[in-house]
Amino acid sequence: MNRINLKLGVNIDHVATLRQARGVDYPSVIDAAGCCEAAGAHSITVHLREDRRHIQDQDVYDLRSKISTRLNLEMANTPEIVKIAVDVHPDEVCLVPEKRQELTTEGGLDVAGQKSAIATTVKVFIENGIVPSLFIDPEPDQIRASAEVGAPCIELHTGTFCDAPRENAAIELERLINGAKLAHDLGIQVNAGHGINLQNLDAILDIPFLDTLNIGHSIVARAVFVSMENAVREMLVAMERG
Ligand code: PXP
Repeated sequence: MNRINLKLGVNIDHVATLRQARGVDYPSVIDAAGCCEAAGAHSITVHLREDRRHIQDQDVYDLRSKISTRLNLEMANTPEIVKIAVDVHPDEVCLVPEKRQELTTEGGLDVAGQKSAIATTVKVFIENGIVPSLFIDPEPDQIRASAEVGAPCIELHTGTFCDAPRENAAIELERLINGAKLAHDLGIQVNAGHGINLQNLDAILDIPFLDTLNIGHSIVARAVFVSMENAVREMLVAMERG
């Protein structure tokens, strides 16, 4: 598979997690984004959660005005966050399910179960020149529903594969591969993310038609030892192997 064009979006939420842990103004998410861009990242991703546990509203506005690559805003489909997103005008948004108590995003968005609400939001973003993506499990019903609501892009949830016990890994990978093929056949751009690290990346690269990988936790964790720039570079080099 020719992976020359596979892009890396770096999710820097956990730089903000570190800052919020002490209620101080460092480490700077803007500086972190600058390091990612200097290392060759293609986009910067942040999740403005309803509980504001890491990224804050001002971070999103600051990133919008300061970064030189693309800004991808992950968000719940709620009126408050949609309003902020339209105002900030990121290049892309990714609609995710959100539960207050979860450690991180658990499971994909149920597009099939809320087609009309999601179609309305997808339309708002398209009309505002923002590319909407839907974070979904690699389920054929969810992929077809994403096409039906007019989404030009999906992000396949790789978390189930990445966390799978050895005996289930092949089956989970197969679901991702088939999901990517179906989305591609339906004319939808395919991104992937959640739980990706240097250990499971090779398998992820078996998924066809990928445009962008959105990776956060493992890069920020690695940056503790090798710097943000080197952690991003390592991931980009590893992505070229596929
Ligand atoms: N993509 C989406 C939609 C996410 O919600 C997250 C987690 O915020 C990621 C990618 C990144 O996942 P991780 O931090 O496990 O790399």
